[in-house]
Amino acid sequence: MTMDGLRAACLACRQCPLAATRTNVVFGVGPEDAPVLFVGEGPGQQEDLQGEPFVGPAGRLLDEMLSIIDLSRENCYITNIVKCRPPQNRDPLQTEQDACIGFLRRQTALLRPKIIVCLGRIAAMRLIDENFRITRDHGAWRQKGGIWFSAMFHPSFLLRDVSRRPDAFRDLKSLQTKVREVCPEVYAGL
Ligand code: URA
Repeated sequence: MTMDGLRAACLACRQCPLAATRTNVVFGVGPEDAPVLFVGEGPGQQEDLQGEPFVGPAGRLLDEMLSIIDLSRENCYITNIVKCRPPQNRDPLQTEQDACIGFLRRQTALLRPKIIVCLGRIAAMRLIDENFRITRDHGAWRQKGGIWFSAMFHPSFLLRDVSRRPDAFRDLKSLQTKVREVCPEVYAGL
């Protein structure tokens, strides 16, 4: 299946109750050959309205974070564990994640990223380790199935707790080092 075919299937999905309350499905954005994939937890209000991931306040912070290490929506792919907004921005339920995770799996198979960065606890627990603790384990790297995985604090959390921003900066610098190591083409020509 192509990315366009997968997007069409995702936009038509009604496999969980979030379909009933969504305005738009938020499939993901970025180049289809992006070597770095960012995964958040689920769309918020602005994302639901606009159909794009990370376009609200947290998204503005994410864009700033990426720009610190010369990344952007032009050279990364950005998506979420669940593609429809959970009401009142609650954490996505396990059943909702289970219903949706196949889309992320197929996106990953098509993108074949070298690096996956989980934004926050929910994505890290789903993609790295069910016992992942973000305050303890953020910034650590592990390789699974030929892909390097790490997690950093979710930008929404960093908006609320600025004391964690130095940690986030260190995690970004560690990501920059990993990009230089495993996909230096991202920085070629800079
Ligand atoms: N928070 C997320 O986890 N994802 C978004 O797309 C927006 C906010």
